[in-house]
Amino acid sequence: MTKNWLFLIVAMLTFSACEDDYEVFGPLNDELNTEEQTTDVVTLNLPDELFNYANPDLPFFFNAPPIQGQLNTPANNPVTDEGATLGRVLFYDKNMSANNTVSCASCHQQEHGFSDPLAFSIGFEGEFTGRNSMGLAQAAYYANGRFFWDERAATLEAQTLMPIQDHIEMGMELDELEEKLSTLAYYPELFEQTFGDAQITSDRISRALSQFVRSMVSYTTKFDEGMAELVPGQNPGITPFSNYSELENLGKELFFSARTNCATCHGTTNFVAPGPRNNGLDLVFEDNGLGDVSGAPQQNGLFKVNSLRNIAMTAPYMHDGRFATLEEVIEHYNSGVQAHPNLSATLRVGGAGGPNNVVPRVLNLNNEEKLALKLFLETLTDEPMLNDEKFSDPFGE
Ligand code: HEC
Ligand code: HEC
Repeated sequence: MTKNWLFLIVAMLTFSACEDDYEVFGPLNDELNTEEQTTDVVTLNLPDELFNYANPDLPFFFNAPPIQGQLNTPANNPVTDEGATLGRVLFYDKNMSANNTVSCASCHQQEHGFSDPLAFSIGFEGEFTGRNSMGLAQAAYYANGRFFWDERAATLEAQTLMPIQDHIEMGMELDELEEKLSTLAYYPELFEQTFGDAQITSDRISRALSQFVRSMVSYTTKFDEGMAELVPGQNPGITPFSNYSELENLGKELFFSARTNCATCHGTTNFVAPGPRNNGLDLVFEDNGLGDVSGAPQQNGLFKVNSLRNIAMTAPYMHDGRFATLEEVIEHYNSGVQAHPNLSATLRVGGAGGPNNVVPRVLNLNNEEKLALKLFLETLTDEPMLNDEKFSDPFGE
């Protein structure tokens, strides 16, 4: 397969810069194992002046504790405009998969909050992934810096190379990938612009992808507009926002209240936990999340709590996509939490000091309160982000 590839790649790769785009004529065909040599024309639309990824105009509350303490950006891989631009091209490039059918964006779609509307995503050979795709907003803001539902990746830099090599997702070997990318006309310049020379290594691929993913910061939701009115130190949980409807304010108050405890796990203005939790989905899990990785029974049923920003766009929900709607999610917390032995304290009657036998909390929300919670969650949708060209597909036909 590698041989065929290298042979076909000899196809002419011309490069012509024209104001905003440059066109690349290259073999993005997916019939690599046949004699047929189709050569598609690929247009890569990149701006003359790089988009700003490195220094977004974040509101004041992002630059203060506890948000600052959530950042997992390593000192040796800060987001740069050049690196994130390369990361964007890699993220949308189907050449990243063994048969050129799947890119990162196939399963992380911008209009769906960089998630997938399918409960299980379809990999390069038509097989389904074992879990629901995850939304990528606020990936930079998870304090323990771990990735995936079961947190098996210790860093984002480690994570970004894993789907590429996954046998269901993209099916590539890293050395094969390096060789393949170096035959595509548009990469040398992009690597050089980022790293100072055109050498293509998997380490650089991982860094650039991580920069692009970390640049996906949501800060222009209706919630952020409301936050902007507050005096620093004022508690958004109990201060009504003037841009919210009465029900949205009720939902916000409920979300941050001790009655629901939602914010004990989906906390701060990034709506994340500092680490994994068990939210009582099952009494006996088929997929034990962290427990399956560590083998420790006390971690069974613990899963990553990633940000709820854009949550209305990332259905279906949970690690296995079991809930199709936010209503179902809310009903789970209202009346469906299971008495798993590892159920997190804030979903138990009596909390951490409660009885030894686990008794799940029942919220007794009325219909108006359930609706209010849903409407509040919908205010976390970041339309400007989901339509921002800097996160969009740079490839055209
Ligand atoms: C075939 C579908 C598919 C493809 C292709 C894919 N992903 Fe994913 N992605 C998923 C699924 C499913 C998960 C959750 C998997 C798990 O937890 O075991 C996930 C999880 C992630 C996460 C973890 C988010 C978090 O908060 O922990 C990141 C980051 C991510 N993917 C980035 C990428 C990048 C970058 C690429 C391309 C190199 C990519 N993905 C390709 C389906 C896909
Ligand atoms: C004890 C911690 C905890 C509390 C309290 C909690 N959650 Fe969660 N939440 C989680 C965990 C863990 C997950 C992911 C579980 C999984 O996928 O297996 C999750 C997932 C979700 C999801 C789906 C996320 C996705 O990307 O699919 C939504 C929506 C959600 N919670 C909303 C709420 C709301 C609303 C409340 C309050 C009524 C709440 N949560 C209370 C821990 C908690």
